[in-house]
Amino acid sequence: MRTFEKEDPRLEGIGWVPDSGPCSGVYVIDRGRVLIDAGNMVGLVDHLEEMAPLEKVERLLLTHTHFDHVGGMAEIYQRTAPDVFVHPVAREYARLLRSPFPEFFQALEDAGKIHSVLDEQEIDGTGLKALHVPGHTAGDLCFYHVEAQALFSGDAVLPYQLRFSAVLSKPDDFCGGRLQDKVQSLRRLLRLPVRHLFPGHGEPVLHKGSHQIKIALVTLYQALYENPPEKAWLLMAQDLAAAGQPEEAEECLKKARTLAPTSEEVDHVRAMLSRKA
Ligand SMILES: [Fe+2]
Ligand SMILES: [Fe+2]
Repeated sequence: MRTFEKEDPRLEGIGWVPDSGPCSGVYVIDRGRVLIDAGNMVGLVDHLEEMAPLEKVERLLLTHTHFDHVGGMAEIYQRTAPDVFVHPVAREYARLLRSPFPEFFQALEDAGKIHSVLDEQEIDGTGLKALHVPGHTAGDLCFYHVEAQALFSGDAVLPYQLRFSAVLSKPDDFCGGRLQDKVQSLRRLLRLPVRHLFPGHGEPVLHKGSHQIKIALVTLYQALYENPPEKAWLLMAQDLAAAGQPEEAEECLKKARTLAPTSEEVDHVRAMLSRKA
């Protein structure tokens, strides 16, 4: 398990069991009392116990209920039974998992162990706030650690360096994923001060978390609007200006100008943004 307090003392008590391929990483918060996602790796429990005895886990927060994020619950619940916190839509999608997971979730429901979490809800005593960020699925949550400005992003934002990041975070229409929702969710996250990004797949990105959100959004714009090539940068400039980041917006305008030296649209957006400033 990797810990991060040397990089930032506010991250004390947070640990990461790395993902392996299509199986998500698992985060330990508050010295073992809280988990974010359960991955799907064999031997998860041994990794978790490097931080604290498993019986200390009181809560399991789920970013969503794709199998690669919940499969490890089987191993955890053989030993202990933390309460599960999940968005109500993702709670429904748990029924779509392969057997025996629907039955397993139903048993937890019957035992009163599953709790719905809504947008902006604080998870008591954890320092974490849930953000509903639909797009990858309709029930995705990110968990934001306010004091450390750390975002546990599940599959909603994955680091661009990660191979297959576009595949792993793409909308899953079977679970209500929609590209336009993803755009709106990323635009919202752009306004959040994110120092550290702790994604569901790939390595945590320390001190430059916001940068990953910007890259995710502009990459999405480029996929949605291939032509004209400057369009993605103009949209990004407008989003960044709206998010109170005028210098970053200006950088995007410059990129758009380089791609389209004579475009009137670039002049138009520049004029519009300077009127609003
Ligand atoms: Fe995933
Ligand atoms: Fe997923």
